[in-house]
Amino acid sequence: MEKLSLFGGTKTFSGKLPVTNNIGKEEETAAMRVLRSGNLSGFLARAGEPFLGGPEVRALERVYCRKFGTKHAVSFNSATTALDAAVVGIGIGPGDEVIVSPFTMAASATAILMNNAIPVFADIDRETFCLDPASVEKRITKHTKALMVTNLYGGSARYDELRTLAQKHDLRIIEDNAQAAGAMYHGKLLGTIGDAGVFSLNVHKQIQTGEGGVLITSDDKVAFRAQLRRNHGETVLDELGDNDECSLGSNFRMTELVAAIAQEQLKKLDMLNSERILLADHLSEGLRRFPFLRRMQVLPDSTHVYYLYPIIFDAKKAGFTRKQFVAAMEAEGFSLGEGYIKPLYLMPLFQNKRAYPGSHCPFDCPRYKGKVSYDRGICPVAEELYEKTLLTTNICRYPVKKSHIDLFLSAIDKVAYNGPELSASK
Ligand SMILES: Cc1ncc(COP(=O)(O)O)c(C=O)c1O
Repeated sequence: MEKLSLFGGTKTFSGKLPVTNNIGKEEETAAMRVLRSGNLSGFLARAGEPFLGGPEVRALERVYCRKFGTKHAVSFNSATTALDAAVVGIGIGPGDEVIVSPFTMAASATAILMNNAIPVFADIDRETFCLDPASVEKRITKHTKALMVTNLYGGSARYDELRTLAQKHDLRIIEDNAQAAGAMYHGKLLGTIGDAGVFSLNVHKQIQTGEGGVLITSDDKVAFRAQLRRNHGETVLDELGDNDECSLGSNFRMTELVAAIAQEQLKKLDMLNSERILLADHLSEGLRRFPFLRRMQVLPDSTHVYYLYPIIFDAKKAGFTRKQFVAAMEAEGFSLGEGYIKPLYLMPLFQNKRAYPGSHCPFDCPRYKGKVSYDRGICPVAEELYEKTLLTTNICRYPVKKSHIDLFLSAIDKVAYNGPELSASK
């Protein structure tokens, strides 16, 4: 076996992985249709049809409803704003606690804070990387109103257990499904299990429009509040004849151009996911031969769509550190993510409890009667994954080929073979 590239040997892969670009002729035609119409946004912050957007926005919402089997879909300019609308939609506000994973994109937690409610972090489980129901149960207090469940990396949380807890304690569930469009849990599409499901269309996702988001729900009230939030609800509430509803809104509207492109992207979702699954299965098979790497275990009767492929690194079995492994793989031509995301409660926002200048609101809001902790150590599994054991790769994405995965695996073979030398290095 050859010398490691890190120590002067030949690089395993000196090319570049093919760039993912799922935008084709179909999106171009859709975009031109909108450009030629001159109608780049159909929204008006006024009661009547245009309150709900233009023809492309409404067409997109119809296809989401059809695809996911929900009564409503509400489009947004991002998943971040859709999550904010989902929180207000399910009726969360000042004084409420919402349990959320610390191992997710910040928006899952900040959407709660944006509504002056309190994010309470529960730990994640080592297999799904999503909220651990046992830890969630320990965090439930009389102030808890909802669970914000991220389906991380393209896979499902343990919804049977989470739903049992939600029923027992009268909690609502928002699914942050930004990373898992098209994945399934026990025969159900993710995003349709909770009271609301949120999708992202940002440039990194399985399907994308640059920026964008969609909320799906079968709850009329959630959908109505989300529509109010999206489009200056405060200006239209009396005209809509529902003076009691909370109506503080903003401009979270999706453009016609984005909505037209999104319709084409949604048609490609299943094909793009199948490609990812084929590549991931090939990777999983290949990883079997490395005792120091634990491959992704998909929950039974569920599908994973591999936004990222997570791997657990065992330094004791490897004989070298995660850092050394990542450096060696990088030198062989393959980048790996080390640790994913610092557990969110360790960010200054939570450590200093400072969401607004000059105050600690909503943490010290008189309406909040609970006592939340953001101390280091509250979620040991998330901290361990971040600091020591988790690796991620985004190699399982179209148009990457199985031959690239084979090269990736050969690079690991080479690193493993040269382990003693690697472990002696700095
Ligand atoms: C789990 C999760 N939630 C929310 C978001 C926010 O999505 P957007 O960029 O569309 O606002 C992301 C984006 O990366 C995400 O991964």
